[in-house]
Amino acid sequence: MAHGNSDQRWTARAHAKVNLSLRVLAKRPDGYHDIETVMSRIGLADTLSIRATSSGELRLNVELAYPRSLPITPIPIGPDNLVLRAAELLRKQHGVSSGAEITLTKRIPSAAGLGGGSSDAATALVLLNRAWRLHRTLDELRELGSGLGSDVPFFLADSACALCTGRGERLQSFSARCRLNLVVVRPSSGLSTPEVYRHCVPEPTSPSSDQLIQSLEQGDARQAAHRLQNSLQRPAERLNPDVMSIHNLFTSLGLWNHQLTGSGSAYFGVCASFRQARHVARRLRLAGIPWAIATQTCL
Ligand code: C5P
Repeated sequence: MAHGNSDQRWTARAHAKVNLSLRVLAKRPDGYHDIETVMSRIGLADTLSIRATSSGELRLNVELAYPRSLPITPIPIGPDNLVLRAAELLRKQHGVSSGAEITLTKRIPSAAGLGGGSSDAATALVLLNRAWRLHRTLDELRELGSGLGSDVPFFLADSACALCTGRGERLQSFSARCRLNLVVVRPSSGLSTPEVYRHCVPEPTSPSSDQLIQSLEQGDARQAAHRLQNSLQRPAERLNPDVMSIHNLFTSLGLWNHQLTGSGSAYFGVCASFRQARHVARRLRLAGIPWAIATQTCL
């Protein structure tokens, strides 16, 4: 299949996520863990822009749009990059001979538990499906995406919130009726997902996420904030002292609640208003936290 060079550009935002709950239930024989997690997309997003070419080549240009204060965790730009892996997978599965020029503008810090790489991969699948006119359904793209990473299917969900089970790839979408006002920070050093999982102790008796989902569906942001939990927080704090310091700092801020997102090292607090979130983010930047932003969960 060749579609020739086209001037048409396909552009989309690739949103970050936070885990409002993350329960590690059991270690599995395949090296993964069974989890139950409630994820929500947030306003922070990378941008992906794609043009189909007839050259058969996949070219990726990454533009870093982080503040200079954040020490950069290098993003692979070779075949290990999740966007290029997504493109190769789609090409192989559907016998595509066309190539693509891809520009990725990175705003989501990596090694942060914010799902940046997975969201970029999911968005690449959606845009290349259009650019190469493959007519694959979202279900088919989710199936393909789950082989790239456990949380890639979440970024292909048809709503901004979902309860995810299995290793994180099985979705039940739901609609929240309130936005949470968040301040999100990333310390100078990141964390490796496999390493954090290796150090975690499964907590099969932790409270189920049902009540959190109920609060979100009822539009009760404050009650939802009181139902946050993350089984990976303790091992992350042990592996990265910056996370522990941020935890202590957030405790002194008087927010509704706060916790680690995913396997970290990013950490978020839930504020009573967006104004408060902006104010706290500014204070934290002035106090020397290299990356602190105010954002909201998406509806
Ligand atoms: O699926 P993904 O590539 O994001 O997972 C990265 C690593 O994180 C896995 O290789 C595994 O070590 C760990 N992991 C896990 N249980 C999960 C998800 C990830 O142990 N549910």
